[in-house]
Amino acid sequence: MASKDLIVTFDGPAGAGKSTVARLTAKALNFLYLDTGSMYRALALKAVTQGVDLRDEEQLLDLLRQSQIVLEQGVDRSMRVRLDGDDVTDLLRAPEVNASVSLVAEFAAIRSEMVKRQRAVAESGGVVMDGRDIGTVVLPYADVKFYLTASLKARAQRRFQELKNLGYSIDLDQLAADIQHRDALDFSRTHSPLRRAEDAILIDTTDAAIDEVLAQVLTECRNHVR
Ligand code: DC
Repeated sequence: MASKDLIVTFDGPAGAGKSTVARLTAKALNFLYLDTGSMYRALALKAVTQGVDLRDEEQLLDLLRQSQIVLEQGVDRSMRVRLDGDDVTDLLRAPEVNASVSLVAEFAAIRSEMVKRQRAVAESGGVVMDGRDIGTVVLPYADVKFYLTASLKARAQRRFQELKNLGYSIDLDQLAADIQHRDALDFSRTHSPLRRAEDAILIDTTDAAIDEVLAQVLTECRNHVR
C-alpha cells in the first residue's frame, strides 16, 4: 500500500488534542483533513439560527438534507467551514452551538446522513478524519486508528485557551463542567457512543507536547506502509 492511500482516524473526548494532531498529521502526509465535529456544529448552528426544535429529529434531518456543508482546506490544513456557501467557521464555537451540538448529534438519522457524507470523502484514501465514532462506525476498516485522551483539567485548560484566543471570555470551572456534561452525553448516547475501537492506539496527551504526539502518530503511520 502506498502511503497516499492510507486512512487515518482520531477519536476521543473534547479537548484531547484530536483536531490539532489530526490537522498536523494531514499536513505532514499531504492528506485531506476532515474534522467531523464541525459538520455537527454547522447543523446545530443552522438549527439554532432558524429556531428549529432541537428535539425534533425529522425537522433536523430535513434541515440537514437541505444543507450544504463544505470543509475547505488551506495549505496548512486549517479549515474553513462553509454552510450553504457562507463561511461560518468563526461561529461554530459559540456558546449556543456548544450547548446544542450534543443534542443534534444524538439522533440516529442525523448520524447516518453525516456518516454517508464522511465516507464519501474518505473513498479514495489519503485522508485523516477526527471525531467520536470514526474508528468504530464511520471507517472501521481504517488503516491506522488513534484514540486520544487527557485529564479533564488538561482538556478544559486547552479549550479555555482556544476560546480565549477566539475572543470569548468564559469561566474555567464552568467550562470544565460543560465539557464533563458533553463527555457524559457523548459516552452514553444510544447511537454510536464515544468509545475506543479495539484496534485504536491509545495516546494520553495530558502531559505530552504536541510535537511528541505528532512524532508518535507519524511513526505509526509510516510503519504501516513499510
Ligand atoms: O469535536 P467537537 O467538540 O467539535 O464535536 C462537537 C460535538 O459533535 C460533540 O458533542 C460530539 C459530536 N460529534 C459526534 O457525535 N460525532 C463525531 N464524529 C464528531 C463530533
